[in-house]
Amino acid sequence: MAIVCKSQSEIEKMRRSGHIVRQVLDELKAMVAPGVSTMDLEKAADKKIKELGAKPAFKGYYDYPCVLCTSVNEEIVHGIPSPKRVLKAGDIVSIDCGVVLDGYYGDAAVTVAVGDSISPERQKLLEVTEASLYKAIEQAKVGNSISDIGGAVQEYVEANGFSVVREFVGHGIGTKLHEEPQVPNFRSNGANTRLREGMVLAIEPMVNSGRPEAKVLDDKWTAVTADGSSSAHFEHCVAVTRNGPVILTQ
Ligand code: MF3
Ligand code: CO
Repeated sequence: MAIVCKSQSEIEKMRRSGHIVRQVLDELKAMVAPGVSTMDLEKAADKKIKELGAKPAFKGYYDYPCVLCTSVNEEIVHGIPSPKRVLKAGDIVSIDCGVVLDGYYGDAAVTVAVGDSISPERQKLLEVTEASLYKAIEQAKVGNSISDIGGAVQEYVEANGFSVVREFVGHGIGTKLHEEPQVPNFRSNGANTRLREGMVLAIEPMVNSGRPEAKVLDDKWTAVTADGSSSAHFEHCVAVTRNGPVILTQ
C-alpha cells in the first residue's frame, strides 16, 4: 500500500474527528485524580465519543478490548483500562484515544500527572516528551523527510538525558487508523520518504526516563520499559500543507 495524500476537504473531515478526540481528552484530563481508575476513564470516554456522534477507533482493532489505551508510569503504550488500576498521587498516566467520524480517523494522546506533585524526574519527562512532539511537528513540511521528524524527537530527547522507544512508531492516518508511512521517533536511514502536500501523520513520541528498550506483558498488549523506568507519550495528527504543518487534533 502506498501513501495516501488527502485533499483539503478530506483534511477538513479529519479536523472534525481530531477535534472530537481533543474534546474527549480534555474531559479525561480534568477527571484524572487519585482514586480514579483507568476503567472510570474508559467509561467516560465511551460515553463522550457517542455523545459527540463518533465511533471509537481502537476497540476491536486487532481485537483490542477497549476505547482507550491508558498507560501508567513504566507502561509505555497500549495499557488496557481496568477497574483494578486505581491512580494514585505521583503517578503519570498516558491516555490515548482514537475515533472515526464520517469515515475519517483521529488519534491523539496526552500524559497527565496524577495529584498535585509528581517527582521532578517525571515532571521533566512530561515536559520534554511534549516539547519533543512540537519539535517534530515543526519538521512536518513539504520537502523534509520522515526522518527529519524522528530526528527532531531524538535529538531533543537525548539532549535532555532521556531515551526514545524504537519498537513503536507513529503512522500515516486517514480512512484507516494506521496507514503508510511509519513515523519513527528517531533518525533512520529507512525513513527517507519525502513529505508531500496532503500527507497526514500521527506523530507520537514515546520517551523513557531510563533505557529505551520495551517489552510486552503477558496480556499481549501492555508495553512497558524493560528497566522499569517511567515513560511518557504525546500524540497529535498533523497535516502536511503548502502553508506548513497543521495540527488536526486540537
Ligand atoms: N495510538 C495508538 C496507535 O496509533 C493506539 C493504537 S491501539 C489499538 O498505534 F488498539 F488500536 F491498536
Ligand atoms: Co497513533
